Amino acid sequence: MYAESVNTPEKFWGRQARELLDWRRPFKRVLSWKLPHAKWFEGGRINVSENCLDRHLKTARANKAAIIFEGEPGDVRTLTYRQLHQEVCRMASALEGLGLVRGDRAAIYMPMVPEAAIAMLACARLGVIHTVIFGGFSSEAIKDRVNDCQARVIITADGGWRRGRIVELKVNVDKAVQATPSVERVIVLKRTGQEVAMDPARDVWWHDLVAGQPASHAPKAFDSENPLYILYTSGSTGKPKGVLHTSAGYLLATVLTMKYVFDLKESDVYFCTADVGWVTGHSYVVYGPLAAGATILMYEGAPNHPEPDRFWQLVDRHSVTILYTAPTAIRAFMRWGDAYPARHSLASLRLLGSVGEPINPEAWMWYYTVIGKKRCPIVDTWWQTETGAIMVTPIPGITPLKPGSCAIPFFGVVPKVLDENGKDVPRGSGGRLFLAKPWPSMLRTLWGDDERFMKQYWSELPGYYFAGDGARFDKDGYLWVVGRIDDVLNVSGHRIGTAEVESAIVSHHSVAEAAVIGRPDDLKGQALVCFVTLKNDVEPSVALKEEIRAHVAREIGALARPDDVRFAAGLPKTRSGKIMRRILKEIAAGGAVKGDTTTLEDFTVVAMLQAEE
Ligand code: WT7
Repeated sequence: MYAESVNTPEKFWGRQARELLDWRRPFKRVLSWKLPHAKWFEGGRINVSENCLDRHLKTARANKAAIIFEGEPGDVRTLTYRQLHQEVCRMASALEGLGLVRGDRAAIYMPMVPEAAIAMLACARLGVIHTVIFGGFSSEAIKDRVNDCQARVIITADGGWRRGRIVELKVNVDKAVQATPSVERVIVLKRTGQEVAMDPARDVWWHDLVAGQPASHAPKAFDSENPLYILYTSGSTGKPKGVLHTSAGYLLATVLTMKYVFDLKESDVYFCTADVGWVTGHSYVVYGPLAAGATILMYEGAPNHPEPDRFWQLVDRHSVTILYTAPTAIRAFMRWGDAYPARHSLASLRLLGSVGEPINPEAWMWYYTVIGKKRCPIVDTWWQTETGAIMVTPIPGITPLKPGSCAIPFFGVVPKVLDENGKDVPRGSGGRLFLAKPWPSMLRTLWGDDERFMKQYWSELPGYYFAGDGARFDKDGYLWVVGRIDDVLNVSGHRIGTAEVESAIVSHHSVAEAAVIGRPDDLKGQALVCFVTLKNDVEPSVALKEEIRAHVAREIGALARPDDVRFAAGLPKTRSGKIMRRILKEIAAGGAVKGDTTTLEDFTVVAMLQAEE
């Protein structure tokens, strides 16, 4: 199948698309590729929500659980495919009633509750482009994203539960909408139940909005390339990129990977621990699993609430068979100790997955032995927000596993590890990771910025997609992804642009200049270290460090709170004024400054930085 997928891709993808998706009108052409723009399945018409819901109602899946939900306080709710369909229909009719039409944008800022998926699917049903904003982001982040895509509505909740406390989602939205003129209505789900301010002209409760709406809604057919969603992700500038995904190709790649990477069976209970605010939550909590007719376990809260065995309790309570989580979570479980998983049998598990960053072999072995009891294969899946679906992965039961390697390319994927001149590096040597062929779930552009799309992904080496990662192939052709080689950090599996954090820091009135780097961290993968020079009249103090950390959390969200703030009299720069981050990294890691420093403008800066810590 792999050979067919790369030798005659149109034949392969055409057949998969006919077999795995329900079309309202068959496509005429599998692929038109005019670099950097791809069109997949032109001429075809399809509705993504219909593929995730309606088509299952004609089968035995109608009364199968689509979503088993457990809230952090322990409340459990199950929605069958029929019930989920009804809820989506009600919401779709309600959104239509607000005047939303195909191509409009809607922002979703919600806790991990079924209504988050319902909101996404209702948008998809109408051809409304959703942008999900992770519930951990600040009001500033909401404002920037909503303004960038000019969303007409925001769908949110009063709050969500996290470690026994309420995350004040509505409060954050209220702050954001003071500066988002495009927003006409805010829809508010009652989840946590505390008092929230409601502006009668703008805000409407979810339950009032859907009350009396019909439980059926005829889905319209849209072009294969109709935009499905925008998802903002960090890049190497201060401004997040609005990655645009479209309909048919995206859905096909997510279902196909559900089928082969997760080896999905009708009786599986599938638990992907990602939040819907990230791409994993889009492709492997909502679209892929539902289009494949899976039963999904959705959990609202923290993995260590009320105790660090919550995930293992969830696995036993709901008989989870497939668990898909992140290395940073696995390392935290390791640290919390084997006693917690030991409280539960975990006997239902048959397959484990990992995503988000390289998994260190030690964490892999722990996951394999302590959680999988040496029974369950681990699929280490490499992909990105931009790729939409899993690109490099073992196929469980078929591909021999190597702890720490994401193994071999999935169907249709041709990865290349290349040097500065675009030449293949020999096996065993490191280089930059590229993809040599278009794929159905590839991002189509960056919202409103086609130029940046071209520059960021397709200009490094003409004809190849630049992933931004460093990697190597070993002698068996297995891929080892080392990590980002651009100015993007991976902190606990969250992608954070150094430039975003730098611009948040310099917006503080005491700060003159800042440079942000990643320092290797056992738990988080990378820790965020900030070198800060203060304005002339400002005295450094411990209190000010704390204030700067809190300031960044306010500006971006708690996930970007710096681990370490260091004051510096000056930053190491080249003569042309470029900050030499390599030197800062070496200092942060506690080592000597090695390598070439001849381009440094001022040598004394380095000595001062080292003396300061
Ligand atoms: C970056 C993409 C894909 C969904 C979650 C993250 C890193 C992701 C792996 C893996 C090594 C990985 C890469 C990539 N990454 N999975 N299995 N092995 N590295 O999505 O926020 O778009 O981040 O995550 O560096 O470029 P994202």
